[in-house]
Amino acid sequence: MTPRSLISTTDLAPEEIALLLDDAAAMRSARVDLVSGAVIDTTLRGRTVALIFEKPSTRTRVSFEVGVTELGGTPLALSSADLQLGRGETVEDTGAVLGRFVQAIVIRTFAQSRLHALAASSGVPVINALTDEEHPCQALADLLTIRDAFGGFEGRVLTYVGDGNNVAHSLLLAGAAVGLGVRIAHPDGYAPGPDIVARATSSAAVHGSEITVTTDPRAAASGAHALYTDVWASMGQEAESAERARVFAPFTLGPELVGLAADDAIVLHCLPAHRGEEIAAEVIDGPRSRVFDQAENRLHAQKAVMAMLVGGSAPGAVAAAAGGGRA
Ligand code: CP
Ligand code: NVA
Repeated sequence: MTPRSLISTTDLAPEEIALLLDDAAAMRSARVDLVSGAVIDTTLRGRTVALIFEKPSTRTRVSFEVGVTELGGTPLALSSADLQLGRGETVEDTGAVLGRFVQAIVIRTFAQSRLHALAASSGVPVINALTDEEHPCQALADLLTIRDAFGGFEGRVLTYVGDGNNVAHSLLLAGAAVGLGVRIAHPDGYAPGPDIVARATSSAAVHGSEITVTTDPRAAASGAHALYTDVWASMGQEAESAERARVFAPFTLGPELVGLAADDAIVLHCLPAHRGEEIAAEVIDGPRSRVFDQAENRLHAQKAVMAMLVGGSAPGAVAAAAGGGRA
């Protein structure tokens, strides 16, 4: 039987997402004792996790390396330059070989299809560390940050202003799954994928929220509880940077948009950020910003995912063992 992977956000059932957020929060609370050595987590003891990066990374690579280590496993960080993959070995052969050595593969790459090929050939769980299409681990950390701020998702709205990219896609799917309203404001020609929007819209209808896709950033920001943006040119789109800077200029997340949001609105960014481009310095460095808590939540969310997919823990088990429910 092929083990479960996290390739798309929708590989997690909506109820699993809620339980994983509980686990992530419980792991966060317990971390002081873990780091001090008072407690040793053995969830991944004896297990090695390959971390393959075909694009650069700061947060994802470090949080996965630290996360595997904190769960008692061994992380093996590999850039494509270290692997024969970077010299043309097929992803199928790479998967078949790695599956003989490691118990899970985390990968950041271009096409989502490479993850499906790796999962099929390796026989071990594959976790999406960002593709051109999605960034599910980021979205889980984002949900945790929003839940921390508001205590839940009901009646709350996340507005994402910018490119309809991988981050926007996973926010649409994850937000819809937990009943968080999601609005995307994008320039003409940079909408999120219609298939993702359709899937998110159906899911949101079931879970009690709405999806809105618009080219009007002011309307989208109005009354929102979380304002979110991402770079205008994603990794692999560097040649389009100048054109994108021109097109996206009216979509900067600046003080005017923040002024239209709810009084208690928070500001999010997956990072890395370009101050003065997609976000004003006074906004990302201002009192509403939660971007560094958001970055830290990557660690906790990914540990919860690995405990489930690699360690075999039932979702919610960590939180239940820690005293139940939300930490
Ligand atoms: N947000 C995020 O995925 O950051 P890195 O590119 O640094 O991993
Ligand atoms: N959309 C960005 C996210 C970086 C974390 C990219 O793909 O480069």
